[in-house]
Amino acid sequence: MDLTLANPTAATPDCADDGAWLACIDCGWTGPPFEEIRYRCPDCDGLLEVRYDDHPTFDDFSGRGVWRYADALPVDHGVSIDEGDTPLYEVPTIEDEVGVAALRVKHEGMNPTGSFKDRGMTVGVRVAEKLGVDRLACASTGNTSAALACYGARAGTPVLVLLPAGKVAAGKVAQASLHGAHILEVDGNFDDCLDVVADLADRGEAYLLNSLNPFRLEGQKTIGLEMLEQFREGTGSLPDRVVLPVGNAGNTSALFKAFRELVAAGELAPDEVPTMTGVQAEGAAPMVEAVAEGRETVRRWDDVETRATAIRIGNPVNAPKALPAIRETGGTAVAVSDEEITDAQRALARDGVGVEPASAASVAGLRKLREQGVVGSDERVVCLTTGHLLKDPDAAAAAGVEPDPVPADTEGVLDHLG
Ligand code: F0G
Repeated sequence: MDLTLANPTAATPDCADDGAWLACIDCGWTGPPFEEIRYRCPDCDGLLEVRYDDHPTFDDFSGRGVWRYADALPVDHGVSIDEGDTPLYEVPTIEDEVGVAALRVKHEGMNPTGSFKDRGMTVGVRVAEKLGVDRLACASTGNTSAALACYGARAGTPVLVLLPAGKVAAGKVAQASLHGAHILEVDGNFDDCLDVVADLADRGEAYLLNSLNPFRLEGQKTIGLEMLEQFREGTGSLPDRVVLPVGNAGNTSALFKAFRELVAAGELAPDEVPTMTGVQAEGAAPMVEAVAEGRETVRRWDDVETRATAIRIGNPVNAPKALPAIRETGGTAVAVSDEEITDAQRALARDGVGVEPASAASVAGLRKLREQGVVGSDERVVCLTTGHLLKDPDAAAAAGVEPDPVPADTEGVLDHLG
């Protein structure tokens, strides 16, 4: 395996602060992490990532949740409401049906606001405090706005969110609203919202907390660390493959970064890094297209549509980080239909795991790749489920069964039950 990104620690630059700095993944520019606000490389506009002068091993981690992994993060504490420590579930029915050596579901919907975004926000909102910003902002298909609204409220910092009008699930808008965010409904899709909010951030109007923000992805790295610890504890081995839904490809990038930092720490051999496998909805699959065509960049899709509104995204901003993650681990990306997503949502629910549609894409993708023989029967697999069932009550109700109307008396109920 060619982990070209595996050892990012050349020499510690003078700009490092407590062993951490920002680096451009394209041209190698380095800069201080907390002195100025940057989302992209000032020289070439490439994506930035946080780098460290040394990497912790599993023995260095103690405590709970995201902050158990503080030694792998750029700050040592966060604006926290106990995020992380999500369950790694067995799903015996699906494991049996799909036919793999082991299948576990890492349910990130069990975070405080019901999605993995909390892991990024506990770090990102803390960095925003350090930078002294007075407004936080994001574009969102829903979950990012819910999490940012909550963590912003906790930090006492105003939050602005831009949502694609009519395309955000009810639970998510309700969360952003109740936590007090200023919500703008934009006449456009998520990618349009991100263009506008990134522009606002560049003009100094607000601090951007989309996954373009490299600090947020550091928090999301902890999914990968926690997943490996739990999998090893439960099965005595490491997973061969991680299957995850892809929108902006932030998690694909973050988990790969977690794994290659473990390689740099000497904890994982390069060939122990799980195969990164991305899943998109057929109606919003620019990453799948880029992987299929072996391209280094994605072509933006202007028209996107899927029932899995969380991943209704046509321009995955983290593609330059995520495409190497897939390529260098020998992974792939696959598109699934809305029907396959809903079927997988039902299958997860039957195994007791309640997820929103985008999350079920991971299981739908695994089913498809197993049928195609891309995933082998001997593989140990983790599917990432990213958001809770209650995020999108309409989708859940539509996928479930209709209630039966009955009269308000026992005889009538017994009659009905036959
Ligand atoms: N699953 C869910 C439930 C999500 O909310 C998102 C992204 C993804 C998967 C995709 O993750 O971007 O790391 O590839 N939601 C963002 C939002 C866009 O605004 O809530 P990714």
